Amino acid sequence: MGAPECWWSTWRGLAVAVTAACLLPHVAARVTDALWWRPRRLEAHFARQGVRGPPYRFLVGCVREMVALMAEATAKPMSPATSHNALPRVLAFYHYWRKIYGPTFLIWFGPTPRLTVADPELVREIFLTRAEAFDRYEAHPIVRQLEGDGLVSLHGDKWALHRRVLAPAFYPDNLNRLVPHVGRSVAALAERWRAMACASGGEVEVDVAEWFQAVAEEAITRATFGRSYASGRVVFRMQGRLMAFASEAFRKVLVPGYRFLPTKKNRMSWGLDREIRRGLVQLIGRRSDAAEDHEAEIKEKGNSGGFRDLLGLMINARDKKSQAMPVEEMVEECKTFFFAGKQTTTNLLTWATVLLAMHPEWQDRARQEVLAVCGPGELPTKEHLHKLKTVRHPHITVPKPKVPEG
Ligand code: HEM
Repeated sequence: MGAPECWWSTWRGLAVAVTAACLLPHVAARVTDALWWRPRRLEAHFARQGVRGPPYRFLVGCVREMVALMAEATAKPMSPATSHNALPRVLAFYHYWRKIYGPTFLIWFGPTPRLTVADPELVREIFLTRAEAFDRYEAHPIVRQLEGDGLVSLHGDKWALHRRVLAPAFYPDNLNRLVPHVGRSVAALAERWRAMACASGGEVEVDVAEWFQAVAEEAITRATFGRSYASGRVVFRMQGRLMAFASEAFRKVLVPGYRFLPTKKNRMSWGLDREIRRGLVQLIGRRSDAAEDHEAEIKEKGNSGGFRDLLGLMINARDKKSQAMPVEEMVEECKTFFFAGKQTTTNLLTWATVLLAMHPEWQDRARQEVLAVCGPGELPTKEHLHKLKTVRHPHITVPKPKVPEG
C-alpha cells in the first residue's frame, strides 16, 4: 500500500470512529428513553390521574407476569365446569389486575403501554367523543405474520380503501347467496354424525370444534375465492400449523428480535409463511387471468345471480389514481380473512353447541322452530332465516363503522 492510500484509510477509519463516538451516546440515550424513561413518565402521568397498574419492568413490561397468570389459569379445569365466567381463564391477567387496580388500569406489552378500560360507560364515552384517539393495537409480530396485514390490522387511508373494496362481499344480499352452500355442508356433517352414531349402537362422542372447523373453512374459502373448498384447503392446513407456532410464541415472553433468529421453529414458520404466500399468489394469478370473464358473468347475472367473492372484488378494484391493488396486498387480505373468519366462527358454533347441551330446553325450542319454519328434511333458505327467532336470539348488534366516501 502506498503512502497516500495509507493516509486515506487512516483518516477514513478515524472519521468513522469519531462519528460512531458522537452518535453512540445519542443512540444510547434514545434507547434508554424508549425502554426506561418514557414508560416511567407515562406511569407517573397516569398515576397522577389515579390510574395505576402492574409496574413496568425494563424491556419486557409486565409480559412475564401475564404469561405466568395465563399458564396458571389454563393449567386447571374451569370451576364449576358449567360456569359462564370465562374471563378468569381466557384472559386471566385482565381479571387478576382488574381486581387489584379497578376497572381502568395500565399494562405494558414490552415498552408499549395499553390502557385497559372495563367500565362500559367509559368505553361508550371514548367511542362517542374520542373515537379519533382510539386505534387498534399492534398485534404480536408472530400473530401478525399469521393473520396477515389486512383489514384487521390496517390503519387510516389504506384501511378505508380496503374496507370500501371489500364491503360488498358482506352485504346481506351477497351473504345470502352462501346460505345453500353452508346448509349443504352442515347437512353433510349431520349425516356423517348420524352414520357414526348408527355404527356404534346409537350414540357417538365427537369433538365438535374439529368438525365445525371444516364447515367454517368451506364457507370462508367460498366467500374468499368464490370456489369450492379444495383451493383453500392447503392454505388453511398451513395456517393451522403456523398457528401452533404462533400460540406457543404468544405464551412466551417476547424477546425483541428473537423472531429473526434462524432457530428451528422460526425457520419452519418462515417456510410455512412462504408456502401460504406461494399458494395464494398462484391462485390470484389464475383468477386475474379469468377476471374479465368473471366480471362479465356477474354483470350478466345481475343482482339475483353471481356471488361477489373477496378475490374478485380485489382483482377488479381501482384506487383514486386507477391503480390496481398490488398482489401482495391481496395475499395479506386473503390471509386475514382465513384467519379472522375460521377460529371465530368455529368457536361460536362450538360454544353454541356447548350451551345447547347444557340447556336441553333451549335445544328443544330451537329444534321445534327449525322444523316448523323449514319443514322436516329441508335445508334452510334465506327466506327462512328471518323467521328463525329462537335460533337467532339473542343477536349482537355491531355498530356500523364509518367508511369515508371516495
Ligand atoms: C363469531 C364470529 C366473529 C367475531 C366474534 C368477530 C369479531 C371481530 C372483532 C371484535 C373485530 C374488531 C377487531 C379490531 O378492530 O381490532 C373484527 C373485525 C374483523 N373481522 Fe371479525 N369476527 C367474527 C367473524 C368474522 C368472519 C367470519 C370474518 C370473515 C370471513 C371476519 C372478518 C373480520 C375482518 C376483515 C375484520 C376487520 C374489519 C375492519 O377493520 O374493517 N370476522 N371481528
